[in-house]
Amino acid sequence: MQIPDPVYDINKSYDDNYREGPVFHGRIPATIPNPPPVSFLGIPANSRLGIPAGPLLNSEWIGFYAKMGFDLLVYKTVRTHPHPSYPAPNCLYVSVSGDLTPEVLNTPLIGIPQIEPASMREITITNSFGMPSQDPSVWQKDVELSRSLIGKGQVLIVSVVGTEREGESIAENFTRAAKMAVEAGAMAIEMNFSCPNVKGTEGQIFQDPSAAGSIAQKVRAGIGTNVPLIAKVGYIGSAQAAGELVSAIGPFVDAIAAINTLSATIINPEGRPALPGPGREKSGVCGNGIRTAALGVVSRLSQEVRARKLPVALVAVGGLMTVEDIDLALSSGADFAMSATGAMWDPFLAYHMKQQNLREGLRR
Ligand SMILES: Cc1cc2nc3c(=O)[nH]c(=O)nc-3n(C[C@H](O)[C@H](O)[C@H](O)COP(=O)(O)O)c2cc1C
Repeated sequence: MQIPDPVYDINKSYDDNYREGPVFHGRIPATIPNPPPVSFLGIPANSRLGIPAGPLLNSEWIGFYAKMGFDLLVYKTVRTHPHPSYPAPNCLYVSVSGDLTPEVLNTPLIGIPQIEPASMREITITNSFGMPSQDPSVWQKDVELSRSLIGKGQVLIVSVVGTEREGESIAENFTRAAKMAVEAGAMAIEMNFSCPNVKGTEGQIFQDPSAAGSIAQKVRAGIGTNVPLIAKVGYIGSAQAAGELVSAIGPFVDAIAAINTLSATIINPEGRPALPGPGREKSGVCGNGIRTAALGVVSRLSQEVRARKLPVALVAVGGLMTVEDIDLALSSGADFAMSATGAMWDPFLAYHMKQQNLREGLRR
């Protein structure tokens, strides 16, 4: 069986996908009731399944996936100022056999624009956008519109990122972005900590517990205690690193979402960089190949959260392509599950999970 093309056209630019919305020629299925509701960080939600920051570029995308039955909807990362996307291609298929780990990723992977996958297991991709953002005057109005397009029991989360700006620290910029998102109607905020650490010489915010802790503390103080706060992190390979991060951010966040992507060098079949332009030799790998690595991080974080008796939920993200994968995530220490690549190729994922819930009396 061949898998249909994704609703996000990977051969088009971010701007075209932003303007043209999801490509969907099917029929929106009838809503499947999924009682009783679960609590998503204190907000009643129809299910534990959502879409992480990424494919939901604007309200068109939020509205579409809400109708397809995904209940936890993360608006793609926004900033306090406009920022352009890298040019297309922003996503390529990567050829992968077996599970990817950071160790396996020491050798380059081959990226190609087109394959005809025969199953969801063949879909591992790389994404490289450069964290684009519309101007706040555009995204704030659009977040407000998104709120009107989601249904009862659906949660709109906005992902924000901060950078050091003239006269503003990274923590202050993160806080301003979070406050703008709350003002616009975000029901919860996600801080994208898988962005470069401007203070450290290399690495990302989540790899620097002290920086992550002070940003989380400032954002929490800025948005108050009524809006749930989530930290999105990348790959964490040891219990010690997981413990240090949980100790630093645990007092300020309601949840941790893991993981973003695994970083790899992507080349074309001729051996040259597959993504054009400087700074794009390495990019994030997501989809089927990263599931084992992602669930390892969730389980490490979950153990550290439990050891400290912190009220912090875990959101599993990474390689969840099928209903079975969602089950695996929810039994690996995650409270919630989100699928980006899986939902791009299979927008019926939530529908199928809820059909099974109904049949088997499950509460997912
Ligand atoms: C098209 C696309 C765009 C993405 N953009 C963002 C983003 O803006 N912010 C973010 O935190 N993660 C972003 N991600 C990463 C996803 O949130 C997710 O962590 C990653 O793709 C792993 O999940 P998956 O295997 O289900 O795709 C993006 C992923 C994809 C596929």
